[in-house]
Amino acid sequence: MNRLTGKRTVITGAGSGIGRASAQRFAQEGASVLVVGRRAANTEETVELVRAEGGVASAMVTDASVEANVEAIVARCIAEFGGLDVFFANIATPGTNTPLLEQTVDEWNDVWQTNVISCFLAAKYAGRHMTAQGGGSIILTSSAASLRANAGAISYSASKAAVNSLTQCAANAFAGTGVRVNAILPGLVKTQMTETVFEYARQRGSENRIGHMTPMKRAGQPHEIAAMAAFLASEDSSFVDGQLFSVDGGVSSTHPFGRIAL
Ligand SMILES: NC(=O)c1ccc[n+]([C@@H]2O[C@H](COP(=O)([O-])OP(=O)(O)OC[C@H]3O[C@@H](n4cnc5c(N)ncnc54)[C@H](O)[C@@H]3O)[C@@H](O)[C@H]2O)c1
Repeated sequence: MNRLTGKRTVITGAGSGIGRASAQRFAQEGASVLVVGRRAANTEETVELVRAEGGVASAMVTDASVEANVEAIVARCIAEFGGLDVFFANIATPGTNTPLLEQTVDEWNDVWQTNVISCFLAAKYAGRHMTAQGGGSIILTSSAASLRANAGAISYSASKAAVNSLTQCAANAFAGTGVRVNAILPGLVKTQMTETVFEYARQRGSENRIGHMTPMKRAGQPHEIAAMAAFLASEDSSFVDGQLFSVDGGVSSTHPFGRIAL
């Protein structure tokens, strides 16, 4: 498929996991990708992977939760690729599982800056350029944890719920401009962020039970989230705006449930 031919794209948090898989998928579909990450080695490795497959990508190492840096990311994409059509804001920090009564405002501010403010800044600076150009797609990574408790730290879940609201509000703020804003809500996906979950299960010998509460009975893979991102980046989603897409093996469709053998 070449749905993204000619698309000038930014992906943040692209040095690993879902962001890396999306950089590869976007480039496979013809996009030019500005790979943004915090760690130079990881970020450059993603660029090498994309180029090894014949794709077009450049690395930018920066903290994508800081206002001046997000403005610079947009400027760099325009300078390097001649414009900006897609901004996939994908960074996050998981927060900590400190008991609620002991949590601090500093921790919440940190989670908010990385998980929510980064998305606001993406909407602000990508939106500024895209409204002037007459269109574009902004994609935010939320989480299944945004919908209910117990799928992540409290600050993380609350921050991702804020991302959901931002998605709807920004889509409406850009009404009539051709700029679309949508969010992806992944379920459990095997990445650097969830490595401890998988490692814990491995140590307990319960790896085969990962995802057992999920209708699909398994965890997801980064490329399965990247496939949704590619759809939202492409003109295949030209009438899709302000929506929250769960890509979670069905887990958000169900209450906790122990299945009796069929
Ligand atoms: N893995 C899951 O199960 C899961 C589930 C739901 C949602 N998500 C979301 O998916 C997104 C991607 O996470 P992932 O699972 O691929 O994990 P990951 O840790 O592999 O990727 C996150 C990347 O973001 C980078 N990053 C973090 N803060 C940054 C900053 N301030 N500036 C620049 N880069 C920064 C990290 O270095 C890392 O490369 C996140 O928004 C996460 O909340 C993941």
